[in-house]
Amino acid sequence: MGRVAGKIAIVTGGGTGIGRAAATRLAEEGAIVTIAEFDAANGQAVAEELGGDAAFVEHDVREEASWQNLMKSVADRHGRPDILVNNAGILATNNNQELAVTDLEQWRAVQQVNVEGVFLGCKYGVDAMIANGGRAKGGAGGGAIVNMSSIAGLVATAHLVAYGASKGAVRQMTKSVAIDCAKKGLGIRCNSVHPGVIVTNMGNQVMGMGNGNVEANWEARLNLVPMGEPGQAVDVANCILFLASDEARHITGAELVVDGGMTAI
Ligand SMILES: NC(=O)c1ccc[n+]([C@@H]2O[C@H](COP(=O)([O-])OP(=O)(O)OC[C@H]3O[C@@H](n4cnc5c(N)ncnc54)[C@H](O)[C@@H]3O)[C@@H](O)[C@H]2O)c1
Repeated sequence: MGRVAGKIAIVTGGGTGIGRAAATRLAEEGAIVTIAEFDAANGQAVAEELGGDAAFVEHDVREEASWQNLMKSVADRHGRPDILVNNAGILATNNNQELAVTDLEQWRAVQQVNVEGVFLGCKYGVDAMIANGGRAKGGAGGGAIVNMSSIAGLVATAHLVAYGASKGAVRQMTKSVAIDCAKKGLGIRCNSVHPGVIVTNMGNQVMGMGNGNVEANWEARLNLVPMGEPGQAVDVANCILFLASDEARHITGAELVVDGGMTAI
């Protein structure tokens, strides 16, 4: 029996990187996964790769109507969702995000996806999960939300002023949602995950910031990882899987760091 057998899961940004790995691990452990993704080709490809009842829904986390459509699509196919992974995020809209060169346009673009997108996800996710009434009220409601933050939400990132602020907001929002749900007896847990340096498209984008020298920057950055190697998407996916599963039934409002020890020193 899988660790999330029969659970209905939604993964935003599930078309590549950490989202794709999370969707795959959830499906391997028995969940029925909907890939909610901006990039239709990637989203469709992952849904086909997973097979079975996995599906792709074209989705933009910034748009309220898109969330309404996503939740309706999941409800029509499966009923109430059990798991929502608010994974979609962007790093930057140009190659420099130091304070002096970050204009309001880039600042807002990053907050729109990373903060407003997660806010809307929590709002519509909780709403869909309590559709049958919270557990405290005898209903079948309940569920798990996992929000993707970053170590940039915990410590300074001088060259990523907008991204760091957005991930700090996700960390804090997660705790507010967790306690709101707990106090209302909804049976819904909400936790944040904080990856360090992970090998994905975004990982390469991080390394290219500023001087564009991706390879040299990977090497320099790895010197800062006590475990001496970068994380892989599946390392983060395994933490998401744990938090989404009933194994984490007493964990809410927590932050789980996946960074090879980077922030421990
Ligand atoms: N890679 C890292 O080193 C790292 C480190 C810390 C945190 N994270 C976080 O993990 C998450 C996933 O990162 P990744 O490295 O896999 O990134 P990625 O860039 O490889 O993938 C992000 C996915 O999100 C999708 N997306 C972007 N905007 C969207 C929108 N408006 N609506 C729906 N989908 C959208 C993209 O199409 C893409 O499929 C992000 O929130 C990121 O900030 C990544």
